[in-house]
Amino acid sequence: MKVLGVETSCDETSAAVVRDGAEILSDIVSSQTALHRPYGGVVPELASRNHLRLIGSVVEEALAEARTPMEHIDAIAATYGPGLASSLLIGLNTAKGIAFATGKPFVGINHVEAHLYSPLLANAATDALPMVSLIVSGGHTILAHATAIGEHEILGQTVDDAAGEAFDKVAKLLGLGYPGGPEIEKRAEQGNPAAIEFPRSMLHDASYNFSFSGLKTSVLYFLRKSTGTRIEDVCASFQEAVVDVLVGKTMRAAVERRVKTVSASGGVSVNGRLRNALTAGCAEHGLQLLLAPPRLCTDNAAMIAALAYYKLQSGKQSDFSLEVAPSMGLGAGGIG
Ligand code: KG4
Ligand code: ZN
Repeated sequence: MKVLGVETSCDETSAAVVRDGAEILSDIVSSQTALHRPYGGVVPELASRNHLRLIGSVVEEALAEARTPMEHIDAIAATYGPGLASSLLIGLNTAKGIAFATGKPFVGINHVEAHLYSPLLANAATDALPMVSLIVSGGHTILAHATAIGEHEILGQTVDDAAGEAFDKVAKLLGLGYPGGPEIEKRAEQGNPAAIEFPRSMLHDASYNFSFSGLKTSVLYFLRKSTGTRIEDVCASFQEAVVDVLVGKTMRAAVERRVKTVSASGGVSVNGRLRNALTAGCAEHGLQLLLAPPRLCTDNAAMIAALAYYKLQSGKQSDFSLEVAPSMGLGAGGIG
């Protein structure tokens, strides 16, 4: 079964064709990052106008690269939330329009749920469940326990800023570019992670929740009073504090839940220091680690099409009354 997936929840306009939830025949991602960079963040109005401008050609390119004419597509899927309302509307309505015009089944997909299962799909490891999964992006920091595809429970999440948001805000404080994660990681490679003792908020707290806004404030106060500190040391020390908390909580959850697999997904999971620390933690506890390749960690439509296949297999479909859900949570694995 070939599914055409569409993703426009933030600032990537993406379409993909995936066979049987695993084989990526095409995954076109048109990034608007350069467009938003001068503003230091995503400008919703600009994002939606560009999704509208690009979506037709991105879908055509995805079909062409997959050498699959629309007649040979079996179903259409699109992200319906969470994300920016005006961006979600473009992809969702495009997908609904295609499905309506061609008479094919249509499935609305939760963007965060697609991130959650993307490492399983990228590694063709659907037998690796149950797993504890860390979802770390610009908008989310969630620790989840999944027992089957579409069956998961949230163990904890951030009580304030998302991990990616902390990277972006600290990069701004340091006068670095947007998005901040890659900028901080690049400088951290030349810095000393033990140079500054930033707080590890909630690391030893009994819950699986996270908090990053205090860390951001600590960096701000540190910068106000310090003189002559190397920016590389600030980046490395900040990154280490984030990684310590993310990995510490993930490992504790994996051990307490007695799972055999740990996975990480979302834009922050591209971070090399985080990947290394997860690798070391999993080796220490005898756990299998599943990571997606970097281009499947950030926003993409392949993860949407792949998850849609499993929804369709379990008899789920959406109807055309489905609306965008900008602030929906991870949910309990249903569809819209
Ligand atoms: O998943 P994603 O592409 O979009 C959302 O759904 O939010 O994640 C984007 C976030 C941004 O906050 C960005 O700074 C962060 O992922 N990010 C990174 C790295 N690459 C992207 N954070 C840390 N290190 C990186 N290498
Ligand atoms: Zn995302």
